[in-house]
Amino acid sequence: MKAFTIVDLNTGTLRPADLPAPPAPGKNQVRLELIGTSINPIDPLVAKGYGAPLLNTKRQVPLIPGRDAVARVADVGKGVTDLRPGQRVLVAASPRTGGTYAAVFNLPRKCVAPIDDSLSDATAAGLGYAGLTALQSLAAAGLSADNARGKQLCINGASGGVGSIALVLARRWGAQITAVASERNQDWVRRLGADQTVDYRDPAAMAAIDADIILNFAAPGDNHRQNPLLDLLRRRDTPGRAYVNTTNPVLSLATEKGVVRGLATSGGIYLKKRLAAHRAGIRYRWVLFQENAEQLAYLARVFADPDTPTIVSGNQPLDALPEAFNNPTGPPSPGKGVFMVDAR
Ligand SMILES: NC(=O)c1ccc[n+]([C@@H]2O[C@H](COP(=O)([O-])OP(=O)(O)OC[C@H]3O[C@@H](n4cnc5c(N)ncnc54)[C@H](OP(=O)(O)O)[C@@H]3O)[C@@H](O)[C@H]2O)c1
Repeated sequence: MKAFTIVDLNTGTLRPADLPAPPAPGKNQVRLELIGTSINPIDPLVAKGYGAPLLNTKRQVPLIPGRDAVARVADVGKGVTDLRPGQRVLVAASPRTGGTYAAVFNLPRKCVAPIDDSLSDATAAGLGYAGLTALQSLAAAGLSADNARGKQLCINGASGGVGSIALVLARRWGAQITAVASERNQDWVRRLGADQTVDYRDPAAMAAIDADIILNFAAPGDNHRQNPLLDLLRRRDTPGRAYVNTTNPVLSLATEKGVVRGLATSGGIYLKKRLAAHRAGIRYRWVLFQENAEQLAYLARVFADPDTPTIVSGNQPLDALPEAFNNPTGPPSPGKGVFMVDAR
């Protein structure tokens, strides 16, 4: 079976491989045939051993990365009564569960949701992992389709995979959105529905952002503060202020200090920050991706709507995956770049 694997956690290089097909799906598992997938920033990091004490405890190789996919059900294990072979599904799996960069792979039922013909393969290929993270971040900020209308929201990192999907969802729910992105991606975030855009290299525009809720999806850089824009909320006294961050130190501390000390340290940091924010009237949350089939089904419905703007900025054959994966310093595409088995 064709797959893409990491065999050396020191280099973290992704290479094509020929592996035996996985065994028949176990209880509550689904066997899936890959149609398309994408890259999420966590995978090139895990490929180099990042988060291993939590995510790859035995430092097992070959490691099959891949957090999301569009796939076809090939078989179901005991206990799976609501899926049948041949169905197309949207897939999102945590780094603890197993990867999608293989012609055939098994995942727990909770990692998949059936989709109908109106959701394209290309959109579904990049939607699952970033989409669930986006949806769970909006929920952590206290936002939903029922209450977001008119709320002032700032999305930092709005041009990335998670940010683009959060932008589309929040726009659909009626929020007023300031999107922070690099100069070259300003048109991209405007097309997705941003009301205002700000270039993060413009300090005056950053300081003037007017928002009660901030979602931080900015990739951490060398000079990056851990909670960019949190001070903006501290200077306001409006009710319902919230700050949500997906770039938290849980995995880096577990890597550095081991599971017990790493979790204790990051738990301590989180509680301290949450309490300090709470005292200032701000809801402060870190988000860690959670598998969730119902939320996947919701994303599938939203992105099947022909009025929803596309979050796909590039569509390449699957064989182009290693080059893109192994070159994370190259310019990231806005939104999601996808890699399709059949790229006609
Ligand atoms: N906690 C979790 O479970 C979880 C799950 C998924 C993702 N994440 C994390 O969430 C972050 C976003 O993920 P992603 O998939 O959206 O990554 P991505 O597609 O690589 O997007 C990263 C974004 O960060 C922006 N950025 C870079 N430097 C910035 C700066 N100084 N200020 C503002 N924005 C900046 C980039 O904007 P430009 O391209 O316009 O420069 C880009 O849009 C990553 O750090 C990822 O590891 C965490």
